[in-house]
Amino acid sequence: MRQEIDETTASGPAHVAIIMDGNGRWAQQRGRPRLFGHHAGARRVREVLQACPGHGVKYLTLFAFSTENWKRTQTEVAGLMLLFRKYIQREAQALLDNGVRVRFIGDRIRLDEKLVSLMDELELLTAGNDLIHLTIALNYGGRDEVTRAAKRLAYEIEMGRLTHKDVDAETLARFLDTHVLPDPDLVIRTSGEARISNFLLWQSAYAEYEFVDTLWPDFTAAEFGRVLAKYGQRERRFGAVLA
Ligand code: FPP
Repeated sequence: MRQEIDETTASGPAHVAIIMDGNGRWAQQRGRPRLFGHHAGARRVREVLQACPGHGVKYLTLFAFSTENWKRTQTEVAGLMLLFRKYIQREAQALLDNGVRVRFIGDRIRLDEKLVSLMDELELLTAGNDLIHLTIALNYGGRDEVTRAAKRLAYEIEMGRLTHKDVDAETLARFLDTHVLPDPDLVIRTSGEARISNFLLWQSAYAEYEFVDTLWPDFTAAEFGRVLAKYGQRERRFGAVLA
């Protein structure tokens, strides 16, 4: 029995999704503006991404800006949007050279045109890479994603290309932003909050969750490794009973 469980759990997660929380508090603790924390958070993105291949993590999905984050001050929102643009411009070459394929999920409709064209360019530039698949969720919300998928599905039915009999979980999933990605195996949230905040609601149906107290700008590659090791001890059943 022990051996069977080990076989099911020995491998690390192929797809890790992270809610990078705590940038604001990290900055406040240092008497600095919240954007200072977001910039420090961006540096951690590079470190955690670099650690992925060594742990066998092929897919990394990061929650960078939610559909609810527009409620923040204009200064913070504008600063974050500028940070995303700078991140793409600064990191594009390294991402390409390091075998990273970048994708963005979320609704682009509300995003600045310049940012959207940088996103499109980066997706195109890295489309031939396959070492690691980095997905950045920007203006993303799980409910919004499922709603948009349902709307597109309804449109296909209206056009006569599908009928209501075609609608099942698999068909609906084909209309999600994540349709080319496997479901996440592990979702990590930093900063001590134990919420999923509308992140990958559909896709995380059977994901393992790990909530860590560390604020995102302090989340090192070493701690990432420890969280992955802990995941390796878990027994995933996907609703079944193991013999
Ligand atoms: C949540 O912390 C964090 C965000 C809303 C922004 C996440 C963005 C980054 C880490 C910047 C870089 C990302 C990429 C992909 C380049 P919070 O501000 O809610 O923190 P708080 O809960 O302490 O206030």
